[in-house]
Amino acid sequence: MSSATSPGPLRHFLQLRDFSEDEIHYVIDRARLIKDKFKRYLPHHTLHDRNLAMVFEKASTRTRVSFEAGMYQLGGSVIYLTTEGSQLGRSEPIEDTARVISRMVDLVMIRTFEQTRIERFAAHSRVPVINGLTNEYHPCQILADILTFVEHRGAIRGKTVAWIGDANNMSYTWLQAAEMLGFTLHVSGPAGYRLDPLRVGQQPDNVLKEFDDPLEACKGAHLVTTDVWTSMGYESENEARRLAFADWCVDARMMAAAQPDALFMHCLPAHRGEEVTGEVIDGPQSVVWDEAENRLHVQKALMEFLLLGRQGV
Ligand code: CP
Ligand code: NVA
Repeated sequence: MSSATSPGPLRHFLQLRDFSEDEIHYVIDRARLIKDKFKRYLPHHTLHDRNLAMVFEKASTRTRVSFEAGMYQLGGSVIYLTTEGSQLGRSEPIEDTARVISRMVDLVMIRTFEQTRIERFAAHSRVPVINGLTNEYHPCQILADILTFVEHRGAIRGKTVAWIGDANNMSYTWLQAAEMLGFTLHVSGPAGYRLDPLRVGQQPDNVLKEFDDPLEACKGAHLVTTDVWTSMGYESENEARRLAFADWCVDARMMAAAQPDALFMHCLPAHRGEEVTGEVIDGPQSVVWDEAENRLHVQKALMEFLLLGRQGV
Protein backbone atom coordinates (compact mmCIF):
# COMPACT_ATOMS: atom_id res chain seq x y z
CA MET A 1 0.00 0.00 0.00
CA SER A 2 1.35 3.38 -0.92
CA SER A 3 0.92 6.09 1.68
CA ALA A 4 1.01 9.85 1.22
CA THR A 5 2.73 10.44 4.54
CA SER A 6 5.86 8.89 5.99
CA PRO A 7 5.98 7.24 9.41
CA GLY A 8 7.87 9.11 12.16
CA PRO A 9 8.88 12.75 12.02
CA LEU A 10 9.12 14.15 8.51
CA ARG A 11 12.76 14.45 7.40
CA HIS A 12 14.17 16.22 4.37
CA PHE A 13 17.63 16.06 2.79
CA LEU A 14 18.12 19.56 1.43
CA GLN A 15 21.75 19.84 2.46
CA LEU A 16 24.27 17.53 4.11
CA ARG A 17 23.79 19.30 7.43
CA ASP A 18 20.18 18.09 7.59
CA PHE A 19 21.67 14.79 8.79
CA SER A 20 23.91 14.13 11.77
CA GLU A 21 27.39 12.72 11.29
CA ASP A 22 26.10 9.41 12.60
CA GLU A 23 23.24 9.38 10.09
CA ILE A 24 25.64 10.06 7.22
CA HIS A 25 27.78 7.11 8.30
CA TYR A 26 24.64 4.99 8.58
CA VAL A 27 23.58 5.84 5.00
CA ILE A 28 27.10 5.09 3.69
CA ASP A 29 27.22 1.73 5.50
CA ARG A 30 23.74 0.83 4.35
CA ALA A 31 24.66 1.77 0.76
CA ARG A 32 27.53 -0.71 0.93
CA LEU A 33 25.15 -3.48 1.97
CA ILE A 34 22.63 -2.52 -0.74
CA LYS A 35 25.42 -2.39 -3.33
CA ASP A 36 26.70 -5.81 -2.32
CA LYS A 37 23.22 -7.30 -2.72
CA PHE A 38 22.81 -5.55 -6.09
CA LYS A 39 26.10 -7.04 -7.33
CA ARG A 40 24.88 -10.50 -6.31
CA TYR A 41 21.49 -10.03 -8.01
CA LEU A 42 19.70 -10.35 -4.68
CA PRO A 43 16.37 -8.51 -4.57
CA HIS A 44 16.10 -5.65 -2.08
CA HIS A 45 12.51 -4.45 -2.29
CA THR A 46 12.25 -2.38 0.87
CA LEU A 47 10.24 0.37 -0.86
CA HIS A 48 7.70 -1.91 -2.50
CA ASP A 49 4.78 0.13 -3.90
CA ARG A 50 6.32 3.46 -2.89
CA ASN A 51 6.31 6.27 -5.40
CA LEU A 52 8.99 8.92 -6.02
CA ALA A 53 8.29 12.14 -7.94
CA MET A 54 11.39 13.65 -9.58
CA VAL A 55 11.20 17.32 -10.52
CA PHE A 56 13.93 18.55 -12.86
CA GLU A 57 14.31 22.27 -13.45
CA LYS A 58 17.82 21.67 -14.87
CA ALA A 59 19.30 18.99 -17.13
CA SER A 60 20.58 15.66 -15.78
CA THR A 61 21.90 12.28 -16.79
CA ARG A 62 23.27 10.65 -13.61
CA THR A 63 20.75 12.04 -11.14
CA ARG A 64 17.79 11.01 -13.22
CA VAL A 65 19.03 7.53 -14.06
CA SER A 66 20.27 6.76 -10.55
CA PHE A 67 17.08 7.87 -8.78
CA GLU A 68 14.82 6.27 -11.37
CA ALA A 69 16.68 2.95 -11.57
CA GLY A 70 17.19 2.99 -7.79
CA MET A 71 13.52 3.42 -6.95
CA TYR A 72 12.49 0.61 -9.32
CA GLN A 73 15.18 -1.64 -7.86
CA LEU A 74 13.74 -0.98 -4.39
CA GLY A 75 10.34 -2.16 -5.60
CA GLY A 76 8.81 1.27 -6.11
CA SER A 77 8.05 3.48 -9.08
CA VAL A 78 8.80 7.01 -10.27
CA ILE A 79 7.16 9.99 -11.92
CA TYR A 80 9.42 12.27 -13.98
CA LEU A 81 8.51 15.96 -14.18
CA THR A 82 10.27 18.91 -15.78
CA THR A 83 9.63 22.64 -15.53
CA GLU A 84 8.56 22.86 -19.17
CA GLY A 85 6.41 19.74 -19.02
CA SER A 86 4.56 20.78 -15.87
CA GLN A 87 2.65 23.81 -14.65
CA LEU A 88 5.84 25.03 -12.95
CA GLY A 89 6.77 26.35 -16.39
CA ARG A 90 3.54 28.33 -16.43
CA SER A 91 4.18 30.00 -13.08
CA GLU A 92 2.26 27.72 -10.73
CA PRO A 93 3.73 28.63 -7.32
CA ILE A 94 6.25 26.12 -5.99
CA GLU A 95 4.27 25.99 -2.72
CA ASP A 96 1.09 24.87 -4.55
CA THR A 97 3.07 22.34 -6.57
CA ALA A 98 4.49 20.93 -3.33
CA ARG A 99 1.08 20.71 -1.68
CA VAL A 100 -0.36 18.80 -4.63
CA ILE A 101 2.51 16.46 -5.51
CA SER A 102 3.13 15.50 -1.90
CA ARG A 103 -0.49 14.33 -1.48
CA MET A 104 0.04 11.82 -4.27
CA VAL A 105 3.53 10.34 -3.79
CA ASP A 106 5.72 9.14 -0.93
CA LEU A 107 8.91 11.00 -1.71
CA VAL A 108 10.08 13.91 -3.88
CA MET A 109 13.47 14.67 -5.42
CA ILE A 110 14.04 18.12 -6.90
CA ARG A 111 16.82 19.61 -8.98
CA THR A 112 16.40 23.36 -9.16
CA PHE A 113 18.05 26.78 -8.92
CA GLU A 114 18.08 28.65 -5.59
CA GLN A 115 18.22 26.71 -2.33
CA THR A 116 15.31 28.85 -1.14
CA ARG A 117 13.18 27.30 -3.88
CA ILE A 118 13.67 23.76 -2.57
CA GLU A 119 13.22 25.04 1.00
CA ARG A 120 9.86 26.57 0.01
CA PHE A 121 8.87 23.28 -1.60
CA ALA A 122 9.87 21.30 1.50
CA ALA A 123 8.01 23.69 3.81
CA HIS A 124 4.77 22.79 2.02
CA SER A 125 5.44 19.10 1.45
CA ARG A 126 3.82 16.25 3.37
CA VAL A 127 6.58 13.87 2.33
CA PRO A 128 10.40 13.90 2.45
CA VAL A 129 12.15 16.08 -0.10
CA ILE A 130 15.65 15.33 -1.47
CA ASN A 131 17.99 17.89 -3.02
CA GLY A 132 19.07 16.56 -6.40
CA LEU A 133 21.24 19.70 -6.90
CA THR A 134 20.64 23.39 -6.33
CA ASN A 135 22.86 26.38 -7.05
CA GLU A 136 24.13 26.11 -3.47
CA TYR A 137 24.46 22.38 -2.72
CA HIS A 138 24.70 18.90 -4.24
CA PRO A 139 24.49 16.65 -1.17
CA CYS A 140 23.62 13.38 -2.95
CA GLN A 141 26.80 13.67 -4.99
CA ILE A 142 28.91 14.17 -1.88
CA LEU A 143 27.35 11.09 -0.26
CA ALA A 144 28.41 9.12 -3.35
CA ASP A 145 31.89 10.67 -3.25
CA ILE A 146 32.38 9.79 0.41
CA LEU A 147 31.19 6.23 -0.26
CA THR A 148 33.69 6.00 -3.15
CA PHE A 149 36.53 7.29 -0.99
CA VAL A 150 35.69 4.86 1.81
CA GLU A 151 35.58 1.92 -0.60
CA HIS A 152 38.97 2.74 -2.07
CA ARG A 153 40.87 4.16 0.90
CA GLY A 154 38.91 3.58 4.13
CA ALA A 155 37.77 6.28 6.56
CA ILE A 156 37.95 9.88 5.34
CA ARG A 157 38.41 11.33 8.86
CA GLY A 158 41.81 13.01 9.17
CA LYS A 159 42.43 12.99 5.40
CA THR A 160 42.91 15.95 3.03
CA VAL A 161 40.69 16.69 0.03
CA ALA A 162 41.85 19.25 -2.57
CA TRP A 163 39.12 21.14 -4.41
CA ILE A 164 40.47 22.78 -7.57
CA GLY A 165 38.18 25.26 -9.32
CA ASP A 166 34.91 27.05 -8.86
CA ALA A 167 33.24 27.89 -5.56
CA ASN A 168 30.03 26.14 -6.48
CA ASN A 169 27.39 23.73 -5.18
CA MET A 170 29.97 20.93 -5.00
CA SER A 171 32.67 22.84 -3.13
CA TYR A 172 30.24 24.23 -0.55
CA THR A 173 28.93 20.72 0.05
CA TRP A 174 32.49 19.39 0.39
CA LEU A 175 33.02 22.07 3.02
CA GLN A 176 29.98 20.88 4.98
CA ALA A 177 31.33 17.33 4.74
CA ALA A 178 34.77 18.42 6.01
CA GLU A 179 33.18 20.17 9.01
CA MET A 180 30.93 17.22 9.81
CA LEU A 181 33.17 14.25 9.06
CA GLY A 182 36.51 15.58 10.30
CA PHE A 183 38.76 16.01 7.28
CA THR A 184 40.60 19.00 5.79
CA LEU A 185 39.49 20.73 2.61
CA HIS A 186 42.10 22.55 0.53
CA VAL A 187 40.53 24.96 -1.96
CA SER A 188 42.03 26.87 -4.85
CA GLY A 189 40.23 28.95 -7.45
CA PRO A 190 40.83 32.17 -9.38
CA ALA A 191 40.06 35.57 -7.87
CA GLY A 192 36.39 36.38 -8.25
CA TYR A 193 35.37 32.71 -8.06
CA ARG A 194 36.41 31.87 -4.50
CA LEU A 195 34.34 30.80 -1.51
CA ASP A 196 32.20 33.58 -0.11
CA PRO A 197 33.53 34.44 3.38
CA LEU A 198 29.99 35.29 4.47
CA ARG A 199 28.84 31.76 3.70
CA VAL A 200 31.98 30.08 4.99
CA GLY A 201 32.38 31.94 8.29
CA GLN A 202 35.42 31.32 10.48
CA GLN A 203 36.87 27.88 9.77
CA PRO A 204 39.82 26.36 11.60
CA ASP A 205 42.85 25.37 9.49
CA ASN A 206 42.15 21.69 9.95
CA VAL A 207 38.78 22.16 8.19
CA LEU A 208 39.48 24.68 5.42
CA LYS A 209 42.67 26.06 3.86
CA GLU A 210 42.54 28.33 0.83
CA PHE A 211 45.40 28.60 -1.69
CA ASP A 212 46.14 30.97 -4.58
CA ASP A 213 48.19 28.29 -6.33
CA PRO A 214 46.33 25.07 -7.26
CA LEU A 215 49.58 23.09 -7.09
CA GLU A 216 50.01 24.12 -3.46
CA ALA A 217 46.44 23.08 -2.72
CA CYS A 218 47.14 19.60 -4.08
CA LYS A 219 50.19 19.05 -1.87
CA GLY A 220 49.60 16.16 0.50
CA ALA A 221 46.01 15.60 -0.66
CA HIS A 222 44.50 12.11 -0.46
CA LEU A 223 41.86 13.11 -2.98
CA VAL A 224 41.95 15.74 -5.74
CA THR A 225 38.60 16.77 -7.13
CA THR A 226 37.18 19.36 -9.47
CA ASP A 227 34.07 20.26 -11.44
CA VAL A 228 33.05 22.19 -14.55
CA TRP A 229 34.12 25.83 -14.71
CA THR A 230 30.56 26.90 -15.49
CA SER A 231 27.70 25.34 -13.57
CA MET A 232 24.16 25.05 -14.91
CA GLY A 233 22.41 28.39 -14.72
CA TYR A 234 25.63 30.41 -15.17
CA GLU A 235 26.09 29.84 -18.91
CA SER A 236 26.18 33.58 -19.70
CA GLU A 237 29.50 33.73 -17.78
CA ASN A 238 31.05 30.98 -19.88
CA GLU A 239 33.61 33.05 -21.78
CA ALA A 240 34.78 35.03 -18.76
CA ARG A 241 35.13 31.81 -16.81
CA ARG A 242 37.15 30.10 -19.55
CA LEU A 243 39.73 32.87 -19.27
CA ALA A 244 39.72 33.09 -15.47
CA PHE A 245 40.03 29.32 -14.87
CA ALA A 246 42.70 28.56 -17.50
CA ASP A 247 45.34 27.75 -14.81
CA TRP A 248 42.93 25.60 -12.76
CA CYS A 249 43.02 22.49 -14.94
CA VAL A 250 43.81 19.37 -12.91
CA ASP A 251 46.78 17.82 -14.69
CA ALA A 252 49.51 15.25 -14.05
CA ARG A 253 51.67 17.86 -12.28
CA MET A 254 48.92 18.53 -9.75
CA MET A 255 48.30 14.82 -9.21
CA ALA A 256 52.05 14.35 -8.69
CA ALA A 257 51.98 17.00 -5.94
CA ALA A 258 49.30 15.06 -4.07
CA GLN A 259 49.88 11.84 -2.08
CA PRO A 260 51.32 9.07 -4.28
CA ASP A 261 48.09 7.08 -3.93
CA ALA A 262 45.75 10.09 -4.22
CA LEU A 263 42.44 9.52 -5.93
CA PHE A 264 40.87 11.79 -8.54
CA MET A 265 37.12 12.46 -8.55
CA HIS A 266 34.77 14.57 -10.67
CA CYS A 267 31.00 14.58 -10.26
CA LEU A 268 30.63 14.64 -14.08
CA PRO A 269 29.79 15.71 -16.71
CA ALA A 270 33.44 16.59 -17.43
CA HIS A 271 35.12 18.72 -20.06
CA ARG A 272 38.48 17.17 -20.88
CA GLY A 273 41.04 19.89 -21.56
CA GLU A 274 39.22 22.42 -19.37
CA GLU A 275 38.93 21.58 -15.65
CA VAL A 276 40.84 18.27 -16.05
CA THR A 277 43.16 16.73 -18.62
CA GLY A 278 42.16 13.53 -20.38
CA GLU A 279 45.32 11.96 -18.94
CA VAL A 280 44.07 12.48 -15.37
CA ILE A 281 40.38 11.69 -15.72
CA ASP A 282 41.12 8.60 -17.82
CA GLY A 283 44.22 7.67 -15.81
CA PRO A 284 44.85 5.11 -13.06
CA GLN A 285 44.13 7.45 -10.11
CA SER A 286 40.68 8.38 -11.40
CA VAL A 287 37.67 6.70 -9.79
CA VAL A 288 35.02 8.74 -11.60
CA TRP A 289 33.05 5.74 -12.89
CA ASP A 290 32.80 4.17 -9.44
CA GLU A 291 31.81 7.60 -8.17
CA ALA A 292 29.02 7.89 -10.74
CA GLU A 293 27.79 4.35 -10.05
CA ASN A 294 27.72 5.02 -6.33
CA ARG A 295 25.01 7.63 -6.84
CA LEU A 296 22.70 4.67 -7.41
CA HIS A 297 23.62 2.76 -4.26
CA VAL A 298 23.85 5.67 -1.87
CA GLN A 299 20.56 7.20 -2.99
CA LYS A 300 18.79 3.86 -2.52
CA ALA A 301 20.06 3.92 1.07
CA LEU A 302 19.01 7.56 1.39
CA MET A 303 15.46 7.01 0.10
CA GLU A 304 15.05 3.97 2.35
CA PHE A 305 16.29 5.94 5.37
CA LEU A 306 13.93 8.86 4.73
CA LEU A 307 10.91 6.57 4.34
CA LEU A 308 11.63 3.74 6.77
CA GLY A 309 14.29 5.03 9.17
CA ARG A 310 17.22 2.85 10.22
CA GLN A 311 17.07 -0.75 9.03
CA GLY A 312 20.18 -2.07 10.72
CA VAL A 313 23.27 -2.67 8.63
N1 CP B 1 26.78 14.55 -11.23
C1 CP B 1 25.52 14.79 -11.59
O1 CP B 1 24.68 15.21 -10.78
O2 CP B 1 25.25 14.50 -12.89
P1 CP B 1 23.95 14.87 -13.71
O3 CP B 1 23.93 16.36 -13.91
O4 CP B 1 24.09 14.12 -15.00
O5 CP B 1 22.73 14.42 -12.95
N1 NVA C 1 28.42 22.22 -10.50
C1 NVA C 1 27.75 21.51 -11.57
C2 NVA C 1 27.44 20.12 -11.14
C3 NVA C 1 26.76 19.28 -12.19
C4 NVA C 1 26.40 17.92 -11.69
C5 NVA C 1 26.48 22.26 -11.94
O1 NVA C 1 25.79 22.74 -11.04
O2 NVA C 1 26.18 22.36 -13.13
